[in-house]
Amino acid sequence: MQNEEKRSIAELDPDDGYTFRIPTVEDGKLIWQLIKDTQVLDLNSSYSYLLWADQFSDTSIVVEKNGKIVGFISGFIQPKAQDTLFIWQVAVDESARGQRLASRMLQGILQSQSCRRIRYLEATVTPSNIPSTRLFKGLARDLQTDCVITDGYTEDQFPSGAHESEKLFRIGPF
Ligand SMILES: CC(C)(COP(=O)(O)OP(=O)(O)OC[C@H]1O[C@@H](n2cnc3c(N)ncnc32)[C@H](O)[C@@H]1OP(=O)(O)O)[C@@H](O)C(=O)NCCC(=O)NCCS
Repeated sequence: MQNEEKRSIAELDPDDGYTFRIPTVEDGKLIWQLIKDTQVLDLNSSYSYLLWADQFSDTSIVVEKNGKIVGFISGFIQPKAQDTLFIWQVAVDESARGQRLASRMLQGILQSQSCRRIRYLEATVTPSNIPSTRLFKGLARDLQTDCVITDGYTEDQFPSGAHESEKLFRIGPF
């Protein structure tokens, strides 16, 4: 099953040396390092990335070039809304930005077998994160669907002063 999935994502690859594939547990530590290196994403425990790459691989994706993980998206199908894919973290290594890797990763997950029943994509974005805002608005534009933005998590829901608010982006229907 994993190999079939790997192939179907790889078919999306143009010849630019990047390989898009589902993560494996062996990728966990490199994913942790990638997230750490962004310096803007919340860094979760190393265990959480191993767990994610192991248990949520079908709705997540990595991009690899020359043996290095240069892109990662963690996603899951919402337990309470099985037609909705939630995207948690998106990261592209600084050396690989601006080449539509993040956009291609999102489309790669959406085109996978695991997402055949998905009609909506949700993610939360901090208002100051312009690249992320543009990434999700761009996805809605490219898929010719709506992007509705509402309050997601408010600042006062986080420990005091520790986190900017998060807007909820809901994209779809597909
Ligand atoms: C956000 C991030 C994942 C984008 O990755 P990327 O592969 O460079 O993005 P893409 O090339 O697919 O671009 C997607 C859209 O964002 C825009 N964009 C990307 N980087 C941008 C920047 N620095 N400033 C303004 N717009 C930007 C692109 O122009 C494109 O919009 P368009 O389709 O309207 O032209 C990457 O910058 C990153 O990892 N940042 C640090 C971590 C982060 O903030 N993650 C997102 C929060 S979960």
